[in-house]
Amino acid sequence: MRTDVEGIVRAAIEAAVWAPSVHNTQPWWFGTADHGEGGARLGLHADSERRLDIADPDGREMLISCGAALFTLRLAVQAQGWEPRVRTLPEPDRPGLLAELVLDPAARVEPGALLAVERLYRQVKERRSHRGPFKQAVLATDTLTALREEVHREGAELLLVSDTRERRALAAFTEVAEQLQRMDPEHQAEAARWAPPPGGHRHEGMVDRSYPAEDVFADPHFATRDFAQGRPWGVPEEPSAEPGITGVVALVTTRGDGRADWLAAGQGLQRMLLRASAEGLSGALHTQPLEIPELRSLIRVRLCHGGHPQVLLRLGEPTATLGTVRRRPEELTDEEV
Ligand SMILES: Cc1cc2nc3c(=O)[nH]c(=O)nc-3n(C[C@H](O)[C@H](O)[C@H](O)COP(=O)(O)O)c2cc1C
Repeated sequence: MRTDVEGIVRAAIEAAVWAPSVHNTQPWWFGTADHGEGGARLGLHADSERRLDIADPDGREMLISCGAALFTLRLAVQAQGWEPRVRTLPEPDRPGLLAELVLDPAARVEPGALLAVERLYRQVKERRSHRGPFKQAVLATDTLTALREEVHREGAELLLVSDTRERRALAAFTEVAEQLQRMDPEHQAEAARWAPPPGGHRHEGMVDRSYPAEDVFADPHFATRDFAQGRPWGVPEEPSAEPGITGVVALVTTRGDGRADWLAAGQGLQRMLLRASAEGLSGALHTQPLEIPELRSLIRVRLCHGGHPQVLLRLGEPTATLGTVRRRPEELTDEEV
């Protein structure tokens, strides 16, 4: 456990960059400042240049991604034994400042809470998004209850979709959304900007080792995004005669649908994904249908019991671990909150 505040701030930013983000856009930067008497302030900012203008014009997925980074910042500070004071959306005239964390040496994590914090913190760099079928069909009830609780603690909900018709409907909506996006040249151009050709040196976006070369069929089948855009890029998959396993289908939902709700959804998502990772599980995210307003509205009305759907995902035991990249924390830090 560290006592130097500078080291704690650095460790928190180094951890936060490993949060998941839509298309690996990493739409964030961090501000740091002293806070007197051995304390510090840490700001999380959205980088709206990295918003997906076509897929995400309102910045909803950008804020969910930043929410995931916010949970990771908080967790990393707690893992050093310090309890940060957090204010989300603290300054209405600075909408890009999403959260401010005050690190005060007098505020300590309760010793009883530390084990659970450390368990999640160990997963920050281990957690990976999965794409494709899973190994195992059924997850233990206790595990699913624990995952739901992790999301709930952050002010969002994890809705498990077990009804066969509802699972099929969500798979069908994902397929429709995927095909509509493939037919739309603006969408394709935006996706191509975030899916560089193999062999490059970019530290952002969907590099070719982060997705399978082929969309392996599962039943019901949730379409993977077409990051390779018809080219022979991606990680080769073992051919199989049997359809693969879909896994547990779930939606992260919130009661409202504003910026604070999107941040809560992102924090709940990351908390749950880290817990899943500690249990040997991964999440495969499929947010295509939530990017099409008509489909999102249909999913909300028919499947979300009054909540607003923020993320659609499958959970299960991964068949293989995919790769990813991140920008360096030094490039993302400014000495002003
Ligand atoms: C809001 C949000 C939406 C996402 N949507 C998708 C998606 O539709 N398809 C997909 O394959 N991955 C999706 N992802 C996962 C990102 O692609 C992934 O987090 C990023 O590439 C970094 O890789 P990592 O999660 O393995 O660290 C999404 C992530 C977030 C936070």
